[in-house]
Amino acid sequence: MTSNPLVLHVVGARPNMMKIAPIMKAMSELGRCSQLLVHTGQHYDFEMSEVFIQDLRMPYPDIRLEVGSASHAVQTAQIMIAFEQVLIHHQPTLVCVVGDVNSTLACTLVAAKLHIPVAHVEAGLRSNNRRMPEEINRIVTDSISDILFTTERQSAENLTREGISVSKIHFVGNVMVDSLLSHRELSRKSKVLERFRLRSGHYGLVTLHRPDNVDNRDRFMDWINKLGRLSYDLPILFPVHPRTQKRIDEGNLNTVLASYPGISLSRPLGYLDFLHAMANAQLVMTDSGGIQEETTALGIPCLTLREETERPITVLEGTNVVIGNDPSRLLAEAYQILCGNGKTGRIPELWDGHAATRIAQILDRFVGSIH
Ligand code: UD1
Repeated sequence: MTSNPLVLHVVGARPNMMKIAPIMKAMSELGRCSQLLVHTGQHYDFEMSEVFIQDLRMPYPDIRLEVGSASHAVQTAQIMIAFEQVLIHHQPTLVCVVGDVNSTLACTLVAAKLHIPVAHVEAGLRSNNRRMPEEINRIVTDSISDILFTTERQSAENLTREGISVSKIHFVGNVMVDSLLSHRELSRKSKVLERFRLRSGHYGLVTLHRPDNVDNRDRFMDWINKLGRLSYDLPILFPVHPRTQKRIDEGNLNTVLASYPGISLSRPLGYLDFLHAMANAQLVMTDSGGIQEETTALGIPCLTLREETERPITVLEGTNVVIGNDPSRLLAEAYQILCGNGKTGRIPELWDGHAATRIAQILDRFVGSIH
């Protein structure tokens, strides 16, 4: 064969973009492979998708599957049906998937059945909570992927416990941190603090979107009331995920939120604005996975509003405290941080901004060996 090996990258949801962007860049610098970017359309609003492509200065998707929202089964199935045609048409040498969203699972399943090797970036994370759809996506994706890139050492133990061969596992560090470090300077130009009249180091940043936190109206209202109480002492910026906005509208929670003038609501923020908002916050409160890592990389105290984390390194070494999803713990933990007792943490091993280079080199060798 004379043509270059073809690597096909998949993005679908917001947290995929900042992981794929540095990998595509590092692979294009090596120059051996042709690359195509497929966007499944799992996330489709401008603020959940295109703004990230612009902010991260990544290539525009070559192929868009435009599946949109649906139940888990329907969304996963629609991605599979559309992605199968893409693979049959393009016959890539390798498919690269990231994270744990439905797009990750769907595309991995299709590629594995067509005998196309799959590389999974961010493999081996486990919350050990199978009620989370992401946990199912992680376990299945890892079990049928050929190359597993891990962000922390614990992940290899999780994978080998599930019977995965160590020869497939590569500890490379965290590509999300690559994006963070390479965009931090640019993000300083963001006007997000001025826009919401926030003073650097004197506000809290909140994100909430997990079904466990927002789908039960009573629990969600409890979180809002605790955040509202905190907002008397610390202004809060709350960029609202579309799923969360739906729950606010359905549950008539707009009036509850409006009764707390210290909480500023916003549409989802772009990458650079959000990075700037994180880097200058006194405290971040979240149920996201990626934000636990980004706050550790930035040295900003983070309270994780979930029962467990699949990213234990952020607790062991970083700035993260997992407080559970009982809203009553929030105030005590937040005031500890306001009193100056937040965790400072240290930067985990290989979270050095060069994970994508390590990944690109391994993928380059792999496709070279099979092409
Ligand atoms: C997905 C991922 C989750 C990730 C999150 C980040 C899965 C199982 N979950 O959750 O791991 O942390 O993305 O955002 O893949 N919606 C819009 N506009 C959009 C996208 C979604 O309005 O651009 C709405 C949909 O109508 C749907 C809801 O948001 O009701 C949820 O979207 P979905 O893609 O199913 O999952 P997320 O909850 O966003």
